Amino acid sequence: MSFRFNFGVDADDEPSSCVGVFGGASSDTGMVAQTESAASLYAAPYEIVPLAIPSVSSLMVDAIFYASQHVWKRQIDDVQFQLAQQDSMDGSESSVMRQAMAEDKNASDVIKGVYEGGLKTWECSIDLLLYLVDLQSKCGMALDGMRVLEIGCGTGLPSLHILKSTPSAHVCMQDYNRDVLELVTMPNVLANTVLAPASDGDSGDVVHTEADTETCEIDIDFRRTQVLFGDSTDEVIGKRDIPELSTDEAHEADRRLLDGSDICGRCELIAGDWAEIERGLRGQGREHTFDLVLTSETIYDTDSYKKLHDLLECVLSKDSTQAQAQAQNRQKPMVLVAAKSIYFGLTGSVLTFRQYVESRGIFEAESVWQSGGSMPREILRLVWRNGSE
Ligand SMILES: C[S@@+](CC[C@H](N)C(=O)[O-])C[C@H]1O[C@@H](n2cnc3c(N)ncnc32)[C@H](O)[C@@H]1O
Repeated sequence: MSFRFNFGVDADDEPSSCVGVFGGASSDTGMVAQTESAASLYAAPYEIVPLAIPSVSSLMVDAIFYASQHVWKRQIDDVQFQLAQQDSMDGSESSVMRQAMAEDKNASDVIKGVYEGGLKTWECSIDLLLYLVDLQSKCGMALDGMRVLEIGCGTGLPSLHILKSTPSAHVCMQDYNRDVLELVTMPNVLANTVLAPASDGDSGDVVHTEADTETCEIDIDFRRTQVLFGDSTDEVIGKRDIPELSTDEAHEADRRLLDGSDICGRCELIAGDWAEIERGLRGQGREHTFDLVLTSETIYDTDSYKKLHDLLECVLSKDSTQAQAQAQNRQKPMVLVAAKSIYFGLTGSVLTFRQYVESRGIFEAESVWQSGGSMPREILRLVWRNGSE
């Protein structure tokens, strides 16, 4: 079985700032999928992935600039570095996805049922991020207090924007692969909240700014030392004979770092196949508990439409009709689906998804944004069809 992973696309071709992506310079012009007949029998189980400070001493992140704001995103090279180090240190069994990565790092984007593409940032997630910013700034949409679910989040840029800009929002991020959540989503959440690079230079972080790019090495060990030793941190670090933090000290420091932030209360991560996610959320009594559902580059495979639609139908809130929403100055519950109009060589497209949604008769679908250009991209908005809510 030959696996191929396209790490290079993200690391080499995608600029640190988003400017090139919008200018059409992204290499992300399509998607290559491999079908593994054995893999398609497997569906990733529902798993709640607790937020934890990654067991690395630092994180390399790039700034993604948009609309006078930015979010930090972990570099894919840094992920590979961590995997290489862990492989050499422990002989523990690695996941199917990690094994696939180890076999071949020059790769296809999606391996059906094994890896669904979440390690890199896809173009439409940036469209969705910008669309959200527009809804907030031009249409006055308030995300305060909203319960948001990002389905198939991968690097999760739209969620990162919400977590950063709206402290009262609750954000749940789902990906097929637990490894994606642990290697990129979670570090990204932390890099934009509890571990956010400090501008005062007091955190030990090293920021590099060059032309329109900005990268930062977030020094997690410094933060750990700081939270354990407080004001005497500089003294502790300055003494050469001070040993590195023990495992227990590092765990204690990580606990204190997380306890000192509200992030665990306002962000959760869940892994699994959509059918399992629906089952898991129903099992927790969480039907119709999300006011805003976001998803980008997830409709490339018509085989998944039923379970994606079932999940949307299960999670979208029903508690405010348009009239109620307006009375409470709230947004009507909605799903935003960002996607390329066509995925070459794959079965899915915006048209086929829209037709599928219409055939189910549960949601009304409206195209609310189009990119134009030779590789058009769109955003669909789904709301409950009258009588369905
Ligand atoms: C191409 S990636 C897009 C990642 C991210 N939204 C972006 O635009 O950068 C597709 C995502 O869809 C999710 N996905 C696809 N099929 C899935 C399935 N059957 N069950 C659960 N998640 C799935 C995966 O989590 C994966 O990260």
